[in-house]
Amino acid sequence: MSTADPLPKARRPRAFSFAGCAGTLMLAFATSAAAQIVPPHGDEIYRPKAGQSGKDVMWLGTSEKLVAAMLRAAKVGPTDQVVDLGAGDGRIAIAAARDFGARAIGIEYEPPMAELARRNAERAGVANRVRIVTGDIFREDFTAATVVTMYLLPELNLQLRPQLLAMKPGTRIVSHAWTMAEWQPDELIRGESMDAYLWIVPARVEGRWTITEVNGSASATVDIVQRFQRIGGTITIAGETQPLLGAFVSGPELGFTFVDRDGGLKAVRLTVDGDRATGNSRLDEWAVPLQARRVRG
Ligand SMILES: C[S@@+](CC[C@H](N)C(=O)[O-])C[C@H]1O[C@@H](n2cnc3c(N)ncnc32)[C@H](O)[C@@H]1O
Repeated sequence: MSTADPLPKARRPRAFSFAGCAGTLMLAFATSAAAQIVPPHGDEIYRPKAGQSGKDVMWLGTSEKLVAAMLRAAKVGPTDQVVDLGAGDGRIAIAAARDFGARAIGIEYEPPMAELARRNAERAGVANRVRIVTGDIFREDFTAATVVTMYLLPELNLQLRPQLLAMKPGTRIVSHAWTMAEWQPDELIRGESMDAYLWIVPARVEGRWTITEVNGSASATVDIVQRFQRIGGTITIAGETQPLLGAFVSGPELGFTFVDRDGGLKAVRLTVDGDRATGNSRLDEWAVPLQARRVRG
């Protein structure tokens, strides 16, 4: 099982050092983010102030540059449904629609802010693809999203974590500034003052799987231990057990390599759908179709 930390020490999320100190955390949030505030996207009707209070977190806007980097890292495209949790003036939802062709929803608790976001979407010419919901991120249903963006607080990220992990495998989550504790990010997105982080929701693959050849009789038992997207385990063939090599889960994709009985390395790739999976094993150019079933959760 890999325990590699993808984040260089100097860029480790500030969340860890401020854990348990909400006041300091809010101050750090406000001061380090202040450097990247872009001119307010207010209008003659409503002009929000950086740092103004919100229900669970204050308003601060993500810089245009970081918004673009976050959406690029998430590989947002026309087939995506992006949901920004705590949408502020709507800039992330608007950029997702305007610059990446996605459909987007912004959930914002404060009515004047939500109304401003709607007017901003009109002005940007994307009102047909951007919906701003006046609501609470802890009450609204966003399970249909393929990409979730957020700029909240570490404790809010943690509160949302079970819901995010239960989303469809492959859903991309991007958080400006804050991490998800031991659910390590898959990618670091460097910002000018604060970074952002990308996670890909992993399929739940833990447990015992029976893998069989579709056109043959060979079978194997695979036991997997999983912590978020980190996995490890063993494969047992004809009573002989060996560790999985290079095991990974990325969205719905499960992969590992093992040493075949003739000493060759075989790479297995499966697409997981609940308790079933299909794919193949490969030795050089030779691919053997496989099917798998979870027999113990
Ligand atoms: C830091 S701002 C981020 C705005 C925007 N996502 C961005 O990155 O530019 C957080 C926003 O969340 C809103 N907010 C706070 N608590 C909320 C809640 N429970 N439900 C919905 N929105 C909330 C605040 O009003 C604020 O506009």
